[in-house]
Amino acid sequence: MPESTRYYTLGAFLLGVTLTGLWSAYTVKRTLGPVPERDVNELSKPQQKELLRISRIEDPHLLKKALAELERSFDRDEDIKEGIEGCIGNTPLIRIKSLSEATGCEILAKAEFLNGAGNSPKDRVALSIIQMAEEKGILTPHSGDTIYEGTVGSTGISLAAICRARGYKAHICMPDDMAIEKSELLLKLGAEVERVRPAPIVDQNQFVNLARTRAAEHTANPNKPGKGLFADQFETEANWRAHYTGTGPEIYDQTGGRLDAFVSGAGTGGTISGVALFLKKRLPQLRVVLADPPGSGLYNRVKFGVMFDPKEKEGTRRRHQVDTIVEGIGINRVTHNFEVGRELVDDAIRVTDDQAVAMARWLVENDGIFVGSSSAVNCVAATKLAKQLGPGHRIVTLLCDSGARHLSKFWANREVGGSENDVSLDQILTCKRDSSLLPREHVEQTPRKKARVE
Ligand SMILES: Cc1ncc(COP(=O)(O)O)c(C=O)c1O
Repeated sequence: MPESTRYYTLGAFLLGVTLTGLWSAYTVKRTLGPVPERDVNELSKPQQKELLRISRIEDPHLLKKALAELERSFDRDEDIKEGIEGCIGNTPLIRIKSLSEATGCEILAKAEFLNGAGNSPKDRVALSIIQMAEEKGILTPHSGDTIYEGTVGSTGISLAAICRARGYKAHICMPDDMAIEKSELLLKLGAEVERVRPAPIVDQNQFVNLARTRAAEHTANPNKPGKGLFADQFETEANWRAHYTGTGPEIYDQTGGRLDAFVSGAGTGGTISGVALFLKKRLPQLRVVLADPPGSGLYNRVKFGVMFDPKEKEGTRRRHQVDTIVEGIGINRVTHNFEVGRELVDDAIRVTDDQAVAMARWLVENDGIFVGSSSAVNCVAATKLAKQLGPGHRIVTLLCDSGARHLSKFWANREVGGSENDVSLDQILTCKRDSSLLPREHVEQTPRKKARVE
């Protein structure tokens, strides 16, 4: 759309807002007496932010739709979310009572599994990717335009849901060793799903490379309606920015700016980088700590500046991607989204698979919190950090997704309530075993059946 038309449309809209405000103030004044006048400056912060975003939209159809949505949000007496996208962000910050009591630190967790579309922090990223593409005029709703992504599941689920809501299609490439419920869910959301053998990134059939290729093939195919857009969560600016403008500010506001440490795992690195970039500017003393599962090279990247995990030694690696039962975090290559905030990451804590499993059970047993593997890793690392820092500190981490996404793998054959769960937090923190996929006789026994004393 030409610049002049865009400014004309926006100008007309803003004039409309002001006139509507003046008119309603006038009519209310006539019946109720003097009331404050409403003008553009009265827009709430999110509304101002949304207006700024809308000002960059090129497509006239999308611009009109976005303005209509914004106008509907003006009625502040009601609290109605604008579609499923309106249920993304502003997640609660929860005090995890058991961990806080046991450590003497306040351990707080952002309940990212309560994001409404795909139920993980990836909702923020998927929405940000789509909005950025819409602003650039790259996507046209209901034209057959399709978003392609390589993902272990969460980003795909978020993209699939938001694509449905905004008139696009989703095509997801994922490794075939991820929990089956994720691909089942993707199919139910109407996405096309390609499950591929796990492969190193140099392989053209690796799931991320395949998604890039599929997007290019779509665009080049004159018989396919619309075009293909590769979402590229590992490299896109839209990823870390979603956390820089959303997750970070929310944590700052919810804690009143009072926190000592932020702990997070990293898959793409978007969360830890975006949050660190926002918070460290305001809280230079804040410790940002990476929680890393077995087999991931990020731990050494943070500690020593090199991307290497001993499991990468020839002949020792059992799986192709990252050697752990944990899904969604840990990686063995450098990504833009991790590098953009890496200098702000002060330390890294390694978490074994057994520690993650034991923590997941602990959270259900003691707090009624049922989460997936990456959330459990975060909570182990937050607890280890609490022990390092000593009582009196406030640590914020994330609960990324629900245990329901992990029933067939991480949670398979694991019960809660039996005597084997009767372990102390100290015992959880010292579990050594690195892969819960291994038969037990290969490894040191997990301490169990001890009284829970802390
Ligand atoms: C469940 C879950 N938790 C955490 C993450 C990691 O977030 P990030 O990619 O921002 O590092 C992911 C990434 O896919 C995930 O799927």
